Amino acid sequence: MTAPRGRFISLEGGEGTGKSTQARILASALEARGLSVRVTREPGGSPFAEKMREVLLSGLAQPLGPQGEAALFAAARADHVRETIAPALEAGAWVICDRFTDSTRVYQGAVGKADPRLLRALDRVSVGGSVPDLTLVLDVPPEIGLARAVARGKGAAADRFEREGAEYHAAIRAAFLALAGAEPERCVVIDARGDVESVAAQILSAVSARLALPAAAEGAPA
Ligand code: TYD
Repeated sequence: MTAPRGRFISLEGGEGTGKSTQARILASALEARGLSVRVTREPGGSPFAEKMREVLLSGLAQPLGPQGEAALFAAARADHVRETIAPALEAGAWVICDRFTDSTRVYQGAVGKADPRLLRALDRVSVGGSVPDLTLVLDVPPEIGLARAVARGKGAAADRFEREGAEYHAAIRAAFLALAGAEPERCVVIDARGDVESVAAQILSAVSARLALPAAAEGAPA
């Protein structure tokens, strides 16, 4: 008997919203319910896409402009979906992805002003049918997010996107909120200003409200 298709959850938001930490915590909570979970990220998530990540985050592709960068993010995404996401979902795993195509729509689209028709065409060939069942948009004011990103980097050089100014990050935040508002059946905004535990609790309650979750095993973390 083949396993039923897994569920696909993406985490989105600006810099330093805590997506990676929350992805790991959510994965443990889902595993405690007996689910098989695959945590992955973008750009990256497959060997080819991880190589593209280096190119994109170093700023090497920045001279191509938002449309060129969008094409590269989409090329990486096509490989990530084909190699990692689609096979995991088919095998019945729940996939938690730290950023996905909404990041392209916000960074290169809404803020970078890449042509929406180009982005839709890129989605058709990269995402295909692997659309997230649920997208959690983690929201914090950019000054808090950037301070967290700097603290996390502990003196490491900021990446190509972290180097942008305050206005840019405010525009990113507004664009994520607008996107979530336009697609309320798929997206839930999470107030990510609080501590890690309270944000994790909000996320788990959003996931159980939107997707049918099996009960946690006795004694397992909630
Ligand atoms: P990452 O180190 O993963 O940042 P974070 O921890 O904030 O998620 O870097 C990913 C960067 O790439 C982030 O600044 C957003 C940007 N990005 C895009 O511009 N377009 C995309 O399609 C994706 C997936 C990411």
